[in-house]
Amino acid sequence: MKLLITGGAGFIGSNFIHYILGKYPDYKIVNLDKLTYCGNLDNLKEVENNPNYKFIKGDICDKEKVTEIFENEKPDFIIHFAAETHVDRSILDPYAFIKTNVLGTHILLETAKKFGIERFLHISTDETYGSIENGKFKEEDILMPNSPYSASKASSDLLARSYFKTFSLPIIITRSSNNYGPYEYPEKVIPLFISNILEGKKVPLYGTGKNIRDWIFVLDNCEGIDTVLHNGEIGEIYNIGGGNEKTNLELTKIILNELGKDESQIEYVEDRLGHDFRYALDIEKAKKIGWEPKHSFEEAMKKTIAWYLENKDWWRKLKQEEFGKYYEKQYGER
Ligand code: NAD
Ligand code: DAU
Repeated sequence: MKLLITGGAGFIGSNFIHYILGKYPDYKIVNLDKLTYCGNLDNLKEVENNPNYKFIKGDICDKEKVTEIFENEKPDFIIHFAAETHVDRSILDPYAFIKTNVLGTHILLETAKKFGIERFLHISTDETYGSIENGKFKEEDILMPNSPYSASKASSDLLARSYFKTFSLPIIITRSSNNYGPYEYPEKVIPLFISNILEGKKVPLYGTGKNIRDWIFVLDNCEGIDTVLHNGEIGEIYNIGGGNEKTNLELTKIILNELGKDESQIEYVEDRLGHDFRYALDIEKAKKIGWEPKHSFEEAMKKTIAWYLENKDWWRKLKQEEFGKYYEKQYGER
């Protein structure tokens, strides 16, 4: 079995590659990644010499490159993670989000249609549904994305679905909630807050801190994607949620407490534009095909914090590079 993984040098993609190579010794992986600011080959150092793993630097928007890869590699499955992923950056400059998330996905769909594929797993997000005050989103609910990021992801999600309906391309879609774990780029709230505290800085909490996210340990998501890939029905959509709802203030206090700090480290800052209040997913459909999250939030958060403590060089390097420029732009304008 050969898997073409796009965006495998990012947070979830690299965790997924480690997971698959560990679980399926006869699977081969081709990782196509552009290595944008958040694509990081340090995440894959342990597997770079694994004979079942191959890295190709390339852009999913490059039609010739994508065609060449399908021609040479003849993948059985594609798991499409590659995307621009940070909501705040999509507010500052949406162009790259439309290009990669919409046009890049379209190029992958067209190429898969041309060459044929056994399964095309499109990685979507709970943010495509928009915000929900009460209850939980089900897969058939309408999509009401609120940021340029989530609108671009909703567009790619719907394009993928249309390639199933119109061309019978064997699409499956997962929509997951907020992941946490090792290798997450330190612009996202959990690694940003942990690393800020370790650097002796304050943590910038948006608005009132009352917004709610549903957190899932990244390995639970990897297992969810694996289950959907092997047991999911073609043409279907599966929510992959952690069932751990926390306000951002609750989450911040957990991190502060674990690192022996108090709330004086919090700096309340101006809210994110269009900030979604709450995400929550109904996961009954994924449960029916044999998946549910296994990790307890308390344990997995402790492990995650310990990983960032033990891997300071990993995030320090990133914070010194491109991230510094972004952070200046983000907060310089406030
Ligand atoms: P990430 O930002 O950490 O990684 C994205 C990866 O895609 C990087 O390695 C980057 O180099 C690569 N990439 C970007 N543009 C590319 C292009 N044009 N061509 C080839 N590669 C490109 O993202 P992540 O958090 O790992 O998210 C992975 C996927 O999961 C995304 O599709 C995201 O929308 C989705 N998702 C993420 C979360 C989450 O909590 N992180 C939750 C739900 C869904
Ligand atoms: O829900 C899935 C989504 O989760 C994915 O589709 C996105 O790719 C991923 O980035 C993530 O989006 P969020 O916007 O929820 O994640 P982020 O870490 O940016 O923010 C989480 C919450 O924390 C959100 O309510 C905003 C808040 N926040 C974030 C940052 C970066 C702060 O209060 N301060 C911050 O500095």
